[in-house]
Amino acid sequence: MTTTTNQHKKETGYAPATPGSLSREDFGSNFKWGVATAAYQIEGAVHEDGRSDCVWDVFARKKGKIRNGDHAREACDFYHRYKQDLELVKELGFEEFRFSISWSRILPDGHGRVNQAGIDYYNRLIDQCIALGIEPWITLYHWDLPQVLEKSGGWKNRRIVEWFAEYAAICGHAFGDRVRHWIVLNEPMAVAGLGYTTGEHAPGNTGIHNFLPVVHHLALSQAEGGRVLRRLLPDARIGNAISCSYVVPNSQSAADVRAARRADALMNRLFIEPALGLGYPKDAFPFLSNIKRFMREGDRERLKFDFDFWGLQNYFSVVVQHSYLAPVMWLKEVPATLRNVPTTGLGWEISPAGMYEILKQFQRYNGVRELIITENGAAFKDKVKDGKVDDPGRQAYYQAYLDAVLKAKNEGVNITGYFAWTLLDNFEWAHGYSARFGLVFVDFKTQERTVKESGKWFAGFLKKPEM
Ligand code: GAL
Repeated sequence: MTTTTNQHKKETGYAPATPGSLSREDFGSNFKWGVATAAYQIEGAVHEDGRSDCVWDVFARKKGKIRNGDHAREACDFYHRYKQDLELVKELGFEEFRFSISWSRILPDGHGRVNQAGIDYYNRLIDQCIALGIEPWITLYHWDLPQVLEKSGGWKNRRIVEWFAEYAAICGHAFGDRVRHWIVLNEPMAVAGLGYTTGEHAPGNTGIHNFLPVVHHLALSQAEGGRVLRRLLPDARIGNAISCSYVVPNSQSAADVRAARRADALMNRLFIEPALGLGYPKDAFPFLSNIKRFMREGDRERLKFDFDFWGLQNYFSVVVQHSYLAPVMWLKEVPATLRNVPTTGLGWEISPAGMYEILKQFQRYNGVRELIITENGAAFKDKVKDGKVDDPGRQAYYQAYLDAVLKAKNEGVNITGYFAWTLLDNFEWAHGYSARFGLVFVDFKTQERTVKESGKWFAGFLKKPEM
């Protein structure tokens, strides 16, 4: 946290754990290997079997919100093709499959009436995983709020804590007999920041006045969701998945160092610390003290939940500097593309050192039992040529990041699993179909799948030695 970009390498002392010769065995036989997905990005079938609109359906219909006017009405058609796609999970060698439940398939009115057809679909998906020897991991909420709830204020309305608890209980009842691993929320910071403050994501609300109530209701919901599941499913393993990025100040000036601490509070500390009983990170970002306006008696206790694991989702590091032009935050990011560092197709810094540092940072919390990388991956401009998708950049990215995970693990970080993002090229939110993150290429005109070379690399890497 106190280094400049150039010094960064030297001061972290980061060097790969096993240059060039990574093997599955290095991670131990209990390490979990999975691939992650999200309902809205892959399912399509948005009006089938009683599903109601979610906020992303409505957002995508608005002009100019999604690149190239893309929408997810079909997406990867996973709703119908899940059987073949689970075969691909197996072919790639993954034993764990993370998917999310679409709230508006289960509860088309947001709460109250249960849509049995929605439950039946996820039952089929779960049963198929089990039949193939793949362990299902459920994410309850990956950003697709039922539009009817948004009409009542969505995450701005404190009643969402009850609505979410009801939804969590229904899922726990329906799927808990077969699903042992649960993730309550996916990246709540993106919901609060992009969905309700900058408006880049659905529901597209803007204004800093939304930020604190939405953060508080998400933080209450993550804990409440955890409690609901634990009560119903005492043997389940319950986690929460948060975005995180190692933050580096652009210079050693006091202003830049303070800006980096503020960014760290928002990007890394905001959702884990209240759950651990530490409250919101006001020390680094005093603006957060205003959250008390939304707190009620007993909330500090209500925010706590002892998760079995924390899911970390890490893609890049960030460099920040102080800025007078950005009220409230008083900082701006120095884009990787201006820093002469390697980047992915989306201009995100490729930083295995950042993965290593962030794992170390989270390991320092008392009360974190276990860490799992629940997402990590990269988008590049892939093309099919002669039936093949050659993507050396992605393969190198995965190797370098896995190496960083291994180094942290070898130094005592309690990391027990890794999920690649993602199985299929899919609807990448505001980027539409322009950003391809899959290990499997999807031709969105024909729905044809082609395993990329990086996917084949994973298959080789994950193959267990013959007994
Ligand atoms: C995460 C998100 C995923 C995926 C990924 C790549 O923030 O949870 O749904 O879009 O980023 O951008």
